[in-house]
Amino acid sequence: MTVAERRTLVEGRGLMKTFGGAGLLRRKTINRAIDGVDIDIFKGEVVALIGESGSGKTTLGKVLLRLTTLDTGVVRFDGQDVFRASSRALRAMRREFQMVFQNQSANLHPKMTVREMMDESLRLHRPELDATGRAAQALELLGRVGLAARAEQRPASLSGGERRRVGLARILATRPKLIVADEPTSGLDAAIKQQMVELLKTLKDPDLAYLLISHDLGLVRKISERVLVMLKGRIIEEVPAAELGRAPFHHPYTHKLMRAADLLEEGRHSTAPDAAAAGARPFDPADRGGSSPAGCVHAADCQLGARLGILSRCSNERPRPVPLGPSHWVACFAAEAKEATG
Ligand SMILES: Nc1ncnc2c1ncn2[C@@H]1O[C@H](COP(=O)(O)OP(=O)(O)OP(=O)(O)O)[C@@H](O)[C@H]1O
Ligand code: SF4
Ligand SMILES: [Mg+2]
Repeated sequence: MTVAERRTLVEGRGLMKTFGGAGLLRRKTINRAIDGVDIDIFKGEVVALIGESGSGKTTLGKVLLRLTTLDTGVVRFDGQDVFRASSRALRAMRREFQMVFQNQSANLHPKMTVREMMDESLRLHRPELDATGRAAQALELLGRVGLAARAEQRPASLSGGERRRVGLARILATRPKLIVADEPTSGLDAAIKQQMVELLKTLKDPDLAYLLISHDLGLVRKISERVLVMLKGRIIEEVPAAELGRAPFHHPYTHKLMRAADLLEEGRHSTAPDAAAAGARPFDPADRGGSSPAGCVHAADCQLGARLGILSRCSNERPRPVPLGPSHWVACFAAEAKEATG
């Protein structure tokens, strides 16, 4: 999808979400799960959200779908303000966006067959269909996820991957415009994971956008178009998936992720801006609730900033996105020189 072809589906602006911090004594424990995020999701695209555990990915997915509260900011879905929508408008919107959680298969009814569960979903979301219409639609959807032959089975006799596919077919029954898929392949063995990847690829549809939340950068590179990198509640880089590990400049934290996943292209290793930071201390959520939310969230670990002698600025000023190419920006002061020199 070219930049000119984009049509906005979801728009989040100035999103802030904190946990904890009630009362004077707990003020220090404020956790900025989402710390000033702007995000767009375009119709029909697959956009990935990556980042370490606790960086705020699931919380951001939930905020976009109003599955949790928001401290400040605005979310618009197809132009409508999600947090100001009446309960009726919200119900209508909820038919159009869906979240697939890590434990999606837990939502399957143990006593119902796959066909019965599909029928139940269709009855709820497609009231215009009669019994014959629902049966045909159920078969069509099960065919799309490769489970037509499993229609009469119950969850206990399905594999983990098959259960997830039933969950996906039920979600597709709602004809969503957006699916937020939170770690859709976690816990699956390699062969089933590959099947899920193929499936997600075949389910690409111009009317359906995916926000794919994943630790699996190999998966992300295979099926998404754009990648958003999240660190300590902020999005610190947007990069085309095809450029992952190949772009002339990545945020030092993205660079670290690429190195850890062995995704850096040959020859890029020598440009590693903060190779030493690969073994940096583990992320402590309390870090971002502390004294300097104004600065860069990577400052305490950043070898590049130290090498460039800019850490004082990094610690006190919040880096803004620096555009480096189509769909590529990095929130890092070191990128400003790249921008200036092209
Ligand atoms: N319901 C909650 N109550 C308090 N804190 C929460 C709650 N949900 C999330 N958090 C905190 O918000 C931060 C972001 O959590 P979130 O689950 O969004 O991270 P994540 O990036 O999805 O992590 P993972 O990759 O491990 O799933 C974490 O520090 C987490 O402890
Ligand atoms: S802004 Fe500074 S601390 Fe942050 S990633 Fe860039 S160089 Fe490192
Ligand atoms: Mg999560």
